[in-house]
Amino acid sequence: MNSADVLSLCKRRGFIWPAYEIYGGIAGLYDYGPMGAAMKNNIVHVWRKAYTLGEGFVEIDADTIGPEIVFKASGHLDKFSDALVSCVKCKTPYRADHLLKEHHPNPASLSHGDMDDLIQKVGVVCMECGGEISKVEDFNLMFKTMIGPGAIGRTGYLRPETAQGMFYNFNSLHRHMREKLPFGVIQIGRGYRNEISPRQGVIRLREFNMMEAELFIDPKDKTWPRFDAIKQDQIRLVPNEPGDTELSVTLEEALKKGIIANEVLAYFVGFTQRFLVTVGVDPERLRFRQHLKTEMAHYAADCWDAEALLSFGWTEIVGIADRGCWDLSRHIEFSNVEMNGFRRYDEPVEVEKEVLKPKYGMLGPQFKAKSSAVGKALEAADPKLIEDGGITVQVDGAPMIIEAKYFDVARVKEKVSGEKFVPHVIEPSHGLDRIMYTCLEHAYTEKEDKEGKYLVMRLAPLSAPIKLGIFPLMGKDELAKPAMELDAEFRANEVATSYDDSGSIGRRYARMDEVGTPYCVTVDYQTLEDDTVTIRDRDSTAQVRVKRSILLKTVVDLLNGKRSFADLKG
Ligand code: ATP
Ligand code: GLY
Repeated sequence: MNSADVLSLCKRRGFIWPAYEIYGGIAGLYDYGPMGAAMKNNIVHVWRKAYTLGEGFVEIDADTIGPEIVFKASGHLDKFSDALVSCVKCKTPYRADHLLKEHHPNPASLSHGDMDDLIQKVGVVCMECGGEISKVEDFNLMFKTMIGPGAIGRTGYLRPETAQGMFYNFNSLHRHMREKLPFGVIQIGRGYRNEISPRQGVIRLREFNMMEAELFIDPKDKTWPRFDAIKQDQIRLVPNEPGDTELSVTLEEALKKGIIANEVLAYFVGFTQRFLVTVGVDPERLRFRQHLKTEMAHYAADCWDAEALLSFGWTEIVGIADRGCWDLSRHIEFSNVEMNGFRRYDEPVEVEKEVLKPKYGMLGPQFKAKSSAVGKALEAADPKLIEDGGITVQVDGAPMIIEAKYFDVARVKEKVSGEKFVPHVIEPSHGLDRIMYTCLEHAYTEKEDKEGKYLVMRLAPLSAPIKLGIFPLMGKDELAKPAMELDAEFRANEVATSYDDSGSIGRRYARMDEVGTPYCVTVDYQTLEDDTVTIRDRDSTAQVRVKRSILLKTVVDLLNGKRSFADLKG
């Protein structure tokens, strides 16, 4: 099996279609068909529930276009680039690190100069025409656009990650969360990256779906209340220390040995593993790899990628980054708006500090009607900002320079109950398309029986686009009515079904197997006599008869993993 086989099934059965195909298609742009859109929604549903109901995160939905200053602040304008090379003859573009994959264990960690040298040394040439490869240059991945027309238009960019919406809205979110830390926010939506040469189906898209969580924490408190619940989970790790190889440890061991730096990161590594396995990633083909220092994104202090083994090799599907205070500090700097958490002391402490004491007697004659506002502004001002014998304060929304003769600097004692700090951020960032493709490739199973080869998609029940096939044994007789009633009952209970009365029952099972439907129910002549139906299990192809009265509950329990099909038989 290779990715072409998986994509061919995905195309044929309505999971994934190349976009704009009637116009020849565009690399890096794909559409989800009916099966794909349903499966995507199912994965989103599991993820959203885990974070909101499970962890108490809140969800927002921010804009996908942003003004230039946001991306100056975030660092994406200066630093969000890939290493571009192209063929000097036919101009085909390549990502330099991708061209060097077979010649270096981690080419993304090399400097441009080192990539140039390695390209020369190993003699990489153009895959299209054998031409020489150019020198490496930076290529910014953001899509540029204009917000507004003509002269009043401002430069804008399509967001390359959803994260910034959660950072520039920090103060509103913090207020909403009643100014308590830690708190978490999620966002699900599109991200846009003008990838240099997308060649791997939905693994590398120019418009893609992200599910991102930002956890705002006090950097002095990197613990997590529910860590105990998952600390015994076994995890496959590839740490970034030179010489370290892959190891399998519990999360608790990883923390104790200092392999994962803190409990919050360790918790979200474990949490991510549980989520991925729930939606159908094969645990045997899943590991977490720590970024090398030279490979880390500009905002990250530490980063663990969930990598899935695919026909393309080990592929990042989730990045779990410790973004430190990078983002909030940068937005504070660029917007001049404070964004702080507040760390309350156990007991208030007395501190001595300098304050400005306005000379009110002198302010009146000089500033007249504004004198009271000037006085208040001076009282609120920070003496550290005095320069050249004066200070600039905001009075009625406008800056005013007040000479030093109008105030004294005094030392006062004050009781303070805590201190401000810039919160840190831990970010699990999920590429939904890559997760979905991984579930599809890991589910793809070729089987053979006496009639020949056939395909079964062993999708996790929670991800499967159709949960239940419902078939009358014969389409056009007295079995149709009870089968249709069953179908309506399941739909009314939010179980996605597919009613099918055409072709042999074997063909109908095969159609459901190919789109990953975990169970099928058949209404047959015995149903009319004893009110039982058969449930057929996709993976074992075994069947059991179940009373109609308990069918709905039985199927729902099977889908939610509360019962196994084997139990049912016993
Ligand atoms: P890569 O190194 O493969 O380009 P990245 O390190 O740039 O990926 P991140 O910036 O960490 O990726 O993005 C977060 C997640 O978004 C990734 O784990 C991945 O699943 C997904 N992702 C990133 N770029 C793409 C893309 N072009 N198409 C589809 N998914 C993507
Ligand atoms: N938000 C993480 C990333 O896009 O890399």
